[in-house]
Amino acid sequence: MKGIFITVEGGDGAGKSTQVSLIEKYLKDKGLSPLMIREPGGTSISEQIRSIILDKKNIEMANMTEVLLYAASRAQLVDEVIVPALQRGRIVVCDRFLDSSIAYQGFGRGISVKAIEDINSYATAGVSPDLTIYLDITPERSFRRKSLMNEEPDMIEAEKLEFHQNVYNGYKYVAEKYPERVFCVDAAQDVDKVFEDIKNRLDLIFNV
Ligand code: TYD
Repeated sequence: MKGIFITVEGGDGAGKSTQVSLIEKYLKDKGLSPLMIREPGGTSISEQIRSIILDKKNIEMANMTEVLLYAASRAQLVDEVIVPALQRGRIVVCDRFLDSSIAYQGFGRGISVKAIEDINSYATAGVSPDLTIYLDITPERSFRRKSLMNEEPDMIEAEKLEFHQNVYNGYKYVAEKYPERVFCVDAAQDVDKVFEDIKNRLDLIFNV
């Protein structure tokens, strides 16, 4: 496919939203028109699935249901948005993708990583990011930073630190398995410095 597919990943409180906005600005300043999307969501159907997954009332949701709902949301996004955009040569930046399922459902919830990869090979139709920017910060540090800012915890954030440590290990697994695709950034640094590292990596693609 002609376009470029970039994903941004990280644990809760890694500062992902801020960096995604800075990436958008960087690309727009270069005269490019990136398609910015997020997971779970990005299409009408996927946003409806998102509201089921993240609804605090759905406390009885089975882990495998969660895996399949994330995969369903992803399948719709890939088919309706990502593939057509890449075919048209666009730059697509997605806030979270398959790596989130490996980290959160695989390592966090303890579902077989092989099962998640298999299910998602259908959901993504084999579409894989050209580059994944991973914001690397331990849950201890990001939680401390977050409590200083007094942010409201959401459904997953309210869970135990241990869960987030497992998620962190999941991202380490992904980063080690796909070193060519995954660019790890030290997200414990100041916002500006984190983005400087990301910018240097993006320059290798867009400053040629
Ligand atoms: P969101 O409010 O978008 O948070 P964030 O800003 O951290 O991305 O919520 C997304 C939540 O969904 C987040 O806690 C991670 C979780 N998630 C999974 O567990 N598996 C997945 O496959 C995806 C895409 C997200």
